Amino acid sequence: MSSIVTAEGLYKQYDGVPVVDHISFAIEAGECFGILGPNGAGKTTTLRMLIGLTPADGGRLELFGQPMHPDQRLVSRRLGVVAQEDNLDDDLTVEENLLVYGRYFGLRSGVIRARLEELLTFARLTDRRRQQVRTLSGGMKRRLVLARCLVAEPELVILDEPTTGLDPQARHLIWQRLRTLKERGVTLLLTTHYMEEAARLCDRLLVMNHGRILDLGTPRDLITRHVEPQVVEIRGRLAPPDPALLRDHAGSLELVGDTLYCYVRDTQAVLAILHAQPTLTFQTRPASLEDVFLKLTGHDLRE
Ligand SMILES: Nc1ncnc2c1ncn2[C@@H]1O[C@H](COP(=O)(O)OP(=O)(O)OP(=O)(O)O)[C@@H](O)[C@H]1O
Ligand SMILES: [Mg+2]
Repeated sequence: MSSIVTAEGLYKQYDGVPVVDHISFAIEAGECFGILGPNGAGKTTTLRMLIGLTPADGGRLELFGQPMHPDQRLVSRRLGVVAQEDNLDDDLTVEENLLVYGRYFGLRSGVIRARLEELLTFARLTDRRRQQVRTLSGGMKRRLVLARCLVAEPELVILDEPTTGLDPQARHLIWQRLRTLKERGVTLLLTTHYMEEAARLCDRLLVMNHGRILDLGTPRDLITRHVEPQVVEIRGRLAPPDPALLRDHAGSLELVGDTLYCYVRDTQAVLAILHAQPTLTFQTRPASLEDVFLKLTGHDLRE
């Protein structure tokens, strides 16, 4: 397999503070690669450096096998971008947004018109085609941005938080569409806060915080590496159980607010202790990416 994106020692600082701190990764053609991290982790900055919107202060970048200069803006038919903020033209209609974008890439009107129908269907916006963008809902706009970046049939699509702020239905529709793209062989690079999204879509995930890579691997690898397979979530009205009681049986314990997360290989011993404490409520579930994320990035609330 060949890498479609390679970053080596990628670095960016603002006012002397590193926000992307010498990170290295490679994305293979055809995979869905996710960057996961809390607010301010450096996800958007990383993506912007990849496409040349933010000049890197150090490191080496290669896209489609070609080295990129730090201040080189990459405009290519081979690349589609969905930015974190929708940047549609509000005064134009749905159709016009697609047409203008296609012309920007130098596609002939006939070619764009031929693709238009398919893209409108893909985005489920056929019946809205003559509507001004300002009258669309958030979910519709997001679908239109996605459709628009596909006008030139890119090989690589970069998406910065494609589903943030959308309701579950709108989110599922975007996920379906992204899976369709992947089946067609399009390489996807996305950032997200949603563990569910990362787990469902991504073949590999890079978890970052404070500009650094905390780990990189398949969702399953990350779970196996960082947490035990079962979690007992314990909430107590009075006091949480003395963690010392549980410590002997738990792989790890994390207190978050009023909840004690007890990560275990086998729940039996822990449940026996808990059943003897009637004031507590608890539930058992399999460990998920969310646990990995909390463990790696810490529990403190970000601004
Ligand atoms: N133009 C800028 N000038 C100064 N600081 C910046 C600039 N752009 C980003 N930063 C800082 O760089 C850090 C990383 O920001 P970035 O937008 O990459 O984070 P993010 O992981 O995308 O966060 P979010 O999940 O909130 O979108 C933050 O501390 C941010 O304040
Ligand atoms: Mg961001």
